[in-house]
Amino acid sequence: MSFSSSKIFRVLNGEAVSPPPVWLMRQAGRYLVEYRQLRAKARSFLDLCYTPKLAAEATLQPIRRFGFDAGIIFSDILVVPDAFGQKVSFETGGGPKLEPISNAAGLGRLREKVDLDRLAPVFDAVRRVKEAAPETPLIGFCGAPFTLASYMIAGQGTPDQAPARLLAYRDPDLFQALIDRLVAGSIDYLLGQIDAGVDLVQIFDSWAGALAPSEFESWCVAPLKTIIEGVRARHPEKKIIAFPRRAGLSIVDFAARTGADALGLDETIDPVAAAKRIEASTVLQGNLDPLALVAGGRALQEGTERILSAFAGRPHIFNLGHGILPETPVAHVEALLGQIRAADA
Ligand code: CP3
Repeated sequence: MSFSSSKIFRVLNGEAVSPPPVWLMRQAGRYLVEYRQLRAKARSFLDLCYTPKLAAEATLQPIRRFGFDAGIIFSDILVVPDAFGQKVSFETGGGPKLEPISNAAGLGRLREKVDLDRLAPVFDAVRRVKEAAPETPLIGFCGAPFTLASYMIAGQGTPDQAPARLLAYRDPDLFQALIDRLVAGSIDYLLGQIDAGVDLVQIFDSWAGALAPSEFESWCVAPLKTIIEGVRARHPEKKIIAFPRRAGLSIVDFAARTGADALGLDETIDPVAAAKRIEASTVLQGNLDPLALVAGGRALQEGTERILSAFAGRPHIFNLGHGILPETPVAHVEALLGQIRAADA
């Protein structure tokens, strides 16, 4: 099926569409009562990701409830380390826990290549979602190599990604070897999702902003460029959104440097400045503060208006600047959608 007439693809093809298409990062999740009920059916969060029927249902819930302009397959970026053979678990209420990799022996314990059989349930979930909602563009995704490495090396989330950045300074060859493996695994994983039916993909570099400027090219730009080239070699037509979170001024020419079709902006980027400084042909996505969505009222209304007016007349996909927070009231999501959909055509 061709989606060229759907709003999100018109924007990705360079058209300014008003009102803009909208989806929200982490749109499936704990802020939805139906997600919490579904979550209770799985033993663990990873079981939920690896049970196609449940993962497909989690993907569909926010599409049904809100009619978003795209779905995003329900999974997690950490299924890739898991499929490299690293032990990954999610503790209830806490963040992810991994067996940390700190040296060559740790890297040696990983598989050479990502185990696509382990990821087969994700591909199965993609097929189920496409069957149930063929008209809704479906986004596949992966974590960018640096963001994955930051969890794989620390063994958990950290405030500043220091363990990964230190290893990159102390042993750049080892760090490069890990990044190279993740680049290859990410290409395989994205191609698997595309073969199963996703219509476009997003690469999350959630911790790109932690990199020193001297390191940014090596660990953020170069790996993303290679992944994008690898996907394009097989699927030149597939649209790819890059999200280098908190990357500051590096975002200005990021799409051109990596070859991404669209650039995700986090909430720290002023939309007015972004519209002025980023080339008018660059497709932008973002960037409402997730906390403004929690707060509602004036913060939500004014934040939304600022984004809508800054990006009016250029290709823009409305989104948050980061994932939706569990404490977000559903009524605020409805108010946001009402405001966007009422925007002047
Ligand atoms: O967007 C969607 O609706 C699709 C699902 C999705 C999840 N994680 C589900 C999830 C996506 C796209 C992700 C990406 C992800 N996962 C990122 C990149 C984006 C970002 O937020 O920066 C990162 C860094 C992760 C790693 C991760 N997964 C962490 C740090 C946590 C714990 C924090 C938390 O919110 O609990 C997770 C768990 C996770 N991933 C949950 C969901 C719905 C919550 C777990 C649960 O429901 O029990």
